[in-house]
Amino acid sequence: MVSEQMTSGRIPQTFINDLVSRADIVDIIGARIPLKKTGRNYWARCPFHNEKTPSFSVNSDKQFYQCFGCGVHGTVISFLMDYDHLEFPEAVEELARGLGLSVPREAGSAKATGSRRDLPGWLEEAARYYQRMLAEHPEAETARAYLTRRGLNAAAIARFRIGYAPSGWDNLLVALGGESAREPLLEAGMLTKKEDTDRMYDRFRGRIMFPIENQRGQIIGFGGRSLNDDPPKYLNSPETPIFHKGRELYGLHQAVEHTRSPECLLVVEGYMDVVALAQYGISYAVATLGTATTTDHLRRLFRITSRVVFCFDGDKAGRTAAWRALEASLPELRDQHDIRFLLLPEGEDPDTLVRGEGLQAFTARIQQATPVIEYLLATLQAQISTNKTDRQAQVLERARPLVAKLSSDIYRALLVRELAELAEISPDKLSTLMQASPTAPKPAPKEPRKGRQGQAHPSPMRTAVGLLLARPELAKLAGDPVRFAGWGIPGASLLAEILTLLQTQPNLKSAAILEHWRGTETERYLVQLAQWTPLVPPEGMAIELQDALERLEQQALEQETARLVEKSHVATLTEAEKVQLRILCTRKSARTTPPPEIG
Ligand code: GTP
Ligand code: MN
Repeated sequence: MVSEQMTSGRIPQTFINDLVSRADIVDIIGARIPLKKTGRNYWARCPFHNEKTPSFSVNSDKQFYQCFGCGVHGTVISFLMDYDHLEFPEAVEELARGLGLSVPREAGSAKATGSRRDLPGWLEEAARYYQRMLAEHPEAETARAYLTRRGLNAAAIARFRIGYAPSGWDNLLVALGGESAREPLLEAGMLTKKEDTDRMYDRFRGRIMFPIENQRGQIIGFGGRSLNDDPPKYLNSPETPIFHKGRELYGLHQAVEHTRSPECLLVVEGYMDVVALAQYGISYAVATLGTATTTDHLRRLFRITSRVVFCFDGDKAGRTAAWRALEASLPELRDQHDIRFLLLPEGEDPDTLVRGEGLQAFTARIQQATPVIEYLLATLQAQISTNKTDRQAQVLERARPLVAKLSSDIYRALLVRELAELAEISPDKLSTLMQASPTAPKPAPKEPRKGRQGQAHPSPMRTAVGLLLARPELAKLAGDPVRFAGWGIPGASLLAEILTLLQTQPNLKSAAILEHWRGTETERYLVQLAQWTPLVPPEGMAIELQDALERLEQQALEQETARLVEKSHVATLTEAEKVQLRILCTRKSARTTPPPEIG
């Protein structure tokens, strides 16, 4: 039974809110780039674009960063995601680790075991043991000879922490402490159970061991190569709570460690290929873990670089793998991305080629790799008829699902233009024919216009939310949020939610509010407001908030009054409504009485 408590249960939102409020964004960013305090904020040269003078500011009160040059902005979690290239849960783990906290998970659909073992810690022990065995074990002579024959030097062996698992049934179990190690090693996939019995033994025996690290360098699994090509040639760890083959990439940690933001990442098929390429000076190669390339892989790669080159064998299996990689890529392909394909001569792989022809020649191949649209068209072209009428129908049928997967307007336009040429019809006609299909892509929703006028004279709603983002502790003054929830004013229920959140967790910083709405439409609205600096000094903010809330209340009163008056023209009001209307009218007139003239 594989438990999934470490990676699949949701992280409770309250934990994230609390974490973001406890962490110090100045510490976290300051540990990665030099920050200089000027005035209320800290400044640096923006790590996300090239600049000579600092326009990247970190606001310690809001726990928020913003670049006035390129516009990036966000919370400490966004920073870790973008700077360390982490996915959201990984950024949360990283932040928690720094504060000495462990990340709780809500029990998901999978059965969660009660304990939370440090599986990467156990695998780290295992890797050290295998490394020691490669150096010391009498039996490892053959393993070392094998590696030498494969041309691996000591630096490459050390960099990838390659080791050796001696033959025998329980070497690892005994070396890591015997009985006490049984449960964690089983959960980490290092032991297998003999079918129909309780007998357990080491999964990896008599194999060269390749530790598989996640992007942060923690060991999450192993690949073991047989020395004599006995099947399976490569044996991988099974899926475990920390090891997901469809998400991780071999060599990614080493690649990013070598160059934090590489211009390009090269995806190859084998572990040996990654190691050999690194040894020959190509530090940016990664490999899938014996499975097809997934959209998750692509997302991960595009967090790190904008160019991905897929390198596959030139045989039929390689071309099939390339096509699957292409299909997985299209949804992640953005305007600024570049995906290319490099199919190698039959019988060669990156390992043999780079050894045979050297760094320069291999790099030249990478540079000449075929761009994604060109590769797609060439593949389609090879599959369709030469008869013109058949060809049109075939292009349409085959290309439609591909076009539908594309999220980039630019690439879609490019592809449609090329497809039209292939089908010998006009691009407009092709688009029309494609749209006629029920699977045609919906036009991407346009970004809502940023309210320019909002800057000068923000509405009372924007003012209220903006002030709460600037000084969350003001929420105390707002009274019971429930009264806002029923109003028909746009944003009123959000305001009520924010107030409830801040009143129940009074220590939250504004960044936690943003985190609370991460990934929703609301987030964009909040981010905009978080960048707004109220024109009032901090001491005036409380009054400003009260005033905004009063104006909102006024607006709500007017709307409700108008609704009841309108209703009274077409229907009879209930007794309750009549009473309410009377109350509303008195309150309204009390409020609209002009203030006494001054002076
Ligand atoms: P060498 O033969 O050592 O040069 O390795 P290679 O990387 O050239 O191997 P190959 O091209 O045959 O395989 C590429 C990748 O596919 C490997 O790195 C493994 O991840 C995976 N793979 C290969 N053989 C097996 C196998 O028998 N079982 C499993 N699960 N995966 C395999
Ligand atoms: Mn090979």
